Amino acid sequence: MNFPIGLLIQASYFAAAFLFIFGLKRMSSPVTARGGIVWAGAGMVVAVLVSLAFASPENPQFKTNLALILIALAVGNAWAWWQGRRVPMTSMPQMVALYNGMGGGAAAAIAAVELYGAHAQGYGPQGLALLGALIGGVSFSGSLVAWAKLEGKMQKSIRFSGQKILNALVLLATLAVGVWILGGLTELKVSLFFAGALAFGVLMTIPIGGADMPVVISLYNAFTGMAVGLEGFVLQNPAMIIAGVLVGSAGTLLTILMARAMNRSLANILFSNFGEVDVGGGEIAGTLKSAEAGDAAIQMRYASKVIIAPGYGLAVAQAQHKLYEFVKLLQERGVEVKFAIHPVAGRMPGHMNVLLAEAGVPYDIIFDMEDINNEFKEADVALVIGANDTVNPAARTNKASPIYGMPILNVDQAKQVYVIKRGQGKGYSGVENELFYRDNCNMVYGDAQKVMVQMIQAVKELGA
Ligand code: TAP
Repeated sequence: MNFPIGLLIQASYFAAAFLFIFGLKRMSSPVTARGGIVWAGAGMVVAVLVSLAFASPENPQFKTNLALILIALAVGNAWAWWQGRRVPMTSMPQMVALYNGMGGGAAAAIAAVELYGAHAQGYGPQGLALLGALIGGVSFSGSLVAWAKLEGKMQKSIRFSGQKILNALVLLATLAVGVWILGGLTELKVSLFFAGALAFGVLMTIPIGGADMPVVISLYNAFTGMAVGLEGFVLQNPAMIIAGVLVGSAGTLLTILMARAMNRSLANILFSNFGEVDVGGGEIAGTLKSAEAGDAAIQMRYASKVIIAPGYGLAVAQAQHKLYEFVKLLQERGVEVKFAIHPVAGRMPGHMNVLLAEAGVPYDIIFDMEDINNEFKEADVALVIGANDTVNPAARTNKASPIYGMPILNVDQAKQVYVIKRGQGKGYSGVENELFYRDNCNMVYGDAQKVMVQMIQAVKELGA
């Protein structure tokens, strides 16, 4: 009996696809997210093994190719493992940018090979390969620029007059070369096409403000997914098509959600200079009043209900462990403590959830903004730790503010607000925060971790 090898391949790809989707589903909750990564990773292992196991051994270069692939896999995995373990949480966006860029580059490289190979023959497959190559190339070079900006290796925003026209011309010229390639393949045309795609990725990314990079990275993530999916069609590889579509749609949704949570359009993110210009805040009534960490801690010790609004500064200070130690001290003394998470607090989706999970904060005291916003008016104290834009009431009322319309945490409605930050530093949007000047608000100046140590000390000194 002939073994139905084709069926086995298709079944394995189906299993890989199932594992991807199952893993993605589990990533939707912090409780199961860790397992979700493992399931999706297992899917990828299945897809890679099946692709390798059923490659054509009759190809004269099979052995050399296999050896090269195995070396690349070993080097790539070792590098990723080492980097993944040592990267600090605050550098996660740039790591994602780098890895995502590699995905886009790999999709473009597949297209380059296939244009000369067996699969991309005829207008249809060739067109798909070229489209994937264009999108993958843009994602590759754009992601590298995003990485360089976030790592501080590149000037934040490069703008010059006529930039948009130049960008449009480069894109049109690249598309024209793509159509030219359909008329007959030459190395010159292919080189021009790839140079155009890579240049467009760079040109599109250099004017975007460094602080907008997380949204741009998510957009390029979607691009990489699309590129991989298109090359999957060219290679007739179902695992690539499904993985590409999943990454493409997840990246697109994430981009839309991030933009929406900031109340900004994608065009505004791609073409404005948000977060890099000092936009000031107009005239703000009131004065800044500072408080000692110990005094703030004592008030929280005797409060009934405290709601904590964490932000980017918590991640910078890596104060999550000390913060949770402080929370446990309050809880042991009968204080009800909850965390309020703004959807774009920090610099990447789920940033605060990941930080709090790292410190072991139980999920049942962590609440999304829409679930807790009505509770601030019942809170004795709102403790803002390293957050700024996400608690700025100007977003509700000041039409001139760049963050106008962004939903915010209602910390200003608490009886007393304490804000932990180092000084007069502005938030990501560059606007002054009205909250800090309100009568019910006091500033506790200092690095969040150092302040938490002082607060812990103060509560301990009061005794049980
Ligand atoms: P931000 O508005 O960025 O403010 C962070 C504050 O933390 C700063 O004002 C800074 O003031 C303080 N800080 C920095 N280091 C600190 C430290 N070591 N100890 C104590 N405080 C420190 O933070 P946010 O409220 O989380 O808002 C996030 C912003 O990022 C939003 O505008 C959002 O739209 C944007 N954004 C978010 C995302 C995602 S997906 N999360 C993606 C792109 C953009 P000092 O310098 O005075 O200390």
